[in-house]
Amino acid sequence: MAETIQEAVKRRRTFAIIAHPDAGKTTLTEKLLLFGGAIQLAGEVKAKKDKIQTRSDWMKIERERGISVVTSVMTFEYGDNVFNLLDTPGHEDFADDTYRTLSAVDAAVMVIDAARGIEPRTLKLFEVCRLRDIPIITFVNKMDREARDTFEILDEIEEKLALDTAPVTWPIGQGKTFAGTYHLAENAVRRGDAETERTPVHGPDSNRAAGLLPENDRPAFIEEVELAREACRPFDADAFREGHLTPVYFGSALRNFGVRDLIEALGAYGPPPRAQEADSRTVEATEDRMTSFVFKIQANMDPNHRDRIAFVRVCSGILQRGMKAKLVRTGKPMSLSAPQFFFARSRITADEAYAGDVVGIPNHGTLRIGDTLTEGEDILFRGVPNFAPEILRRVRLGDAMKAKKLKDALHQMAEEGVVQLFTPEDGSPAIVGVVGALQLDVLKERLNIEYGLPVDFEVSRFSICRWIDADEQAELTRFMEAHRGDIARDLDDDPVFLAQHEFSLNYEAERWKAIRFTTVKDYQ
Ligand code: G4P
Repeated sequence: MAETIQEAVKRRRTFAIIAHPDAGKTTLTEKLLLFGGAIQLAGEVKAKKDKIQTRSDWMKIERERGISVVTSVMTFEYGDNVFNLLDTPGHEDFADDTYRTLSAVDAAVMVIDAARGIEPRTLKLFEVCRLRDIPIITFVNKMDREARDTFEILDEIEEKLALDTAPVTWPIGQGKTFAGTYHLAENAVRRGDAETERTPVHGPDSNRAAGLLPENDRPAFIEEVELAREACRPFDADAFREGHLTPVYFGSALRNFGVRDLIEALGAYGPPPRAQEADSRTVEATEDRMTSFVFKIQANMDPNHRDRIAFVRVCSGILQRGMKAKLVRTGKPMSLSAPQFFFARSRITADEAYAGDVVGIPNHGTLRIGDTLTEGEDILFRGVPNFAPEILRRVRLGDAMKAKKLKDALHQMAEEGVVQLFTPEDGSPAIVGVVGALQLDVLKERLNIEYGLPVDFEVSRFSICRWIDADEQAELTRFMEAHRGDIARDLDDDPVFLAQHEFSLNYEAERWKAIRFTTVKDYQ
């Protein structure tokens, strides 16, 4: 019998992995895909990453793009669950891409290096998850190497992240003696991911637990488990789903420990697709009619398929191949003739996708980031954030004859989220804005390669950009008229105020109390 929407939704888990570079995100991704049967041989994801790292001569940029290209979204099954793993770029200059991706997940796995603990980028990404109340499962990786004391790791998470921890498993040994994981509540042992099931034991002092360790290490392990059971919080599913508590798992992605524990946890406790806030109502994941939003656009993903793919998260109903959807921004219908699912190695045509699923929709520029697709209803999902750029530049083109072409190209790049584009009200040339400098390199490179437009960047007289609005439209108009030379419009035609420095922004904010100056747009 065909699966109902309710059944399909209940099985789905859509998540991202957040980690500081080198903590083991790639290795863990690969193992998840391996156990999920999405790849046959470990090493494929890594090999692709390495190939991209060594092949390129425009190095860093390509590498960053490359990594996200091969692994933008990966779907795999394990047990009864369908998992959608969304990748985020590693480099912080692409932070806005990461934040947008996090708008499309229901949970995150936080990977921590057992010797290094919470590192700066982990902290930053965690803060974004907290803003969105995304529940987090912690995976303490590299237990096969010299690690910190287990209690110390838990304390550090609690202190640095102000987040309660509940160790669900406990490492049996560490470094050279690391021999498996002990499930605290179940009293069961798994000696590695080769074991599909955990073996119940009578306690930590059993042969199958402490017995795996050298004689000298046994008493300490037994004591630790007893202490952990007394002193640590038990896992609480509600506190986890509300984002107040993280269950903690220990393992080694490289040596195949703890990964199965982690997948099982995602299946058992990970939240199914959430209800999604739209401008006029909340959309439940199990509603019949399809709704979805675009959170990422990738151009020229694969040399064999030169195209532009919009990544769409389904929020309700069934996205079916061949269906006609309404693009709410324009009100126009759009035929979804070839939606695609992504696996580690390939993409296949998606016949049906449910809430939580991410499909790629090939298009020639019709879709842009933040777009909502429905079966006719006029609602807009507003969860995909835009951050005020930190760097503003004018684009200088050698050949003035190509100005129109440049305008179109910049418009497209802005729709893809590569840069933000601001058109000054006084008719002066457009300004591009980015969060990190590497994004400018990507823009330059792509304008050159894809559009044949060699460009340079000029410092603009502005360094700060804020979206502006007010309760009274008349007040906003008054402000804009008084500052005509400092007002520009973004891609949606929303006004921004451009300031030369912090001082002038503060000065204006002081004088115009009715005007709101915001650094984030569309954040719920
Ligand atoms: P990232 O995506 O988070 O940047 O990390 P990645 O998986 O690439 O892992 C970074 C390094 O850490 C790699 O070593 C990887 O092999 C190693 N690593 C990952 N998980 C574990 C683990 O559980 N235990 C140990 N001991 N090492 C782990 P590398 O030397 O940079 O690469 P390679 O030469 O091993 O391929």
